[in-house]
Amino acid sequence: RPRVLSGIQPTADSFHFGNYLGAVRQWVALQDDHEAFYCVVDLHAITVEYEPKALRERTRRSVAQLLAAGIDPERSTLFVQSHVPEHAQLGWVLGCITGFGEASRMTQFKDKSAKGGADRATVGLFTYPILQAADILIYQADRVPVGEDQRQHLELTRDLAGRFNHRFGKTFRLPEPYIVKETAKIADLQDPTAKMSKSSSSPAGIIDLLDDPKVSAKKIRSAVTDSGRDVIFDPENKAGVANLLTIYSALTGKKISELEDEYAGRGYGDFKKDLAEVVVEFVTPFREKTLAYLDDKAQLDAILAAGAERARAVTERTLTRVYDRLGFVPGA
Ligand code: TYM
Repeated sequence: RPRVLSGIQPTADSFHFGNYLGAVRQWVALQDDHEAFYCVVDLHAITVEYEPKALRERTRRSVAQLLAAGIDPERSTLFVQSHVPEHAQLGWVLGCITGFGEASRMTQFKDKSAKGGADRATVGLFTYPILQAADILIYQADRVPVGEDQRQHLELTRDLAGRFNHRFGKTFRLPEPYIVKETAKIADLQDPTAKMSKSSSSPAGIIDLLDDPKVSAKKIRSAVTDSGRDVIFDPENKAGVANLLTIYSALTGKKISELEDEYAGRGYGDFKKDLAEVVVEFVTPFREKTLAYLDDKAQLDAILAAGAERARAVTERTLTRVYDRLGFVPGA
């Protein structure tokens, strides 16, 4: 079976609809016919300012949300990145074959470092994509389900894998991004030209999966549309409506064209009211399941311990091979 790997940062109290529709939903679907590795990337989360106490809580919340979304810890290897030290070890190695200029061209680094002022950006934020490449390559992953914003990091990953193979002999499999076009970029509800983002969206622009469902319903009803009244999918001219149609279609499985027919001549009000209900029906059980998983910390931690052990069986093998190729003297 092909291998799949992906990761998500524990940098917020809740995942949002972009994370879920752009990535996590695909993780769930792919575990049926792939050997799946999914991790909560706490090492990545410390590249920006954070609170240790919040990180610990958010890491467990992230795991609980992945379980609530349908990740099955029996079929998939679910773990926390820092429990598997080979990620950071391979990250160091890959850093030594990454050009400084190459890393400087990563647009997410440029955006994030520009925001806080260049002096506040850490070296960890700069090398973030190299650690991400290590996350992927250490598993010899074939596919990596992510949203559109991760495409450049995956290109870097492939470049580094190819470079290592060329210089030291074939070692890494080249991973393919797995990006579902329709939901690759869920937009901010208040600014539909921007992506929904935990770091830059306003609270009204973002739907958190763990929010009070009433709050989420209200956010949908007050989402920015345009001055027209036709519910048609036109991302260029009607980005807000197109985004809502995308969310509606993804949550219900109805085709966009079906939805256009269903709302023909009915205006935005009806459409948003119905979508708000669809959202409430989705988030209500999701939230309950997440809270139930969170209630049993011992069970969560046991899942993570088992996941880390399974992950390490793979990562130790890859790292041993990498160290050998690099010319390191074998350890005890
Ligand atoms: P993160 O934690 O920012 O986001 C998790 C996933 O959600 C996707 N996503 C979106 N998709 C569609 N529309 C949106 N508005 C939206 N916002 C976020 C992201 O593309 C991502 O797939 N660098 C990664 C974490 C990572 C990783 C990895 C991913 C670390 N190592 C290895 C894959 C493989 C990140 O910051 O994701």
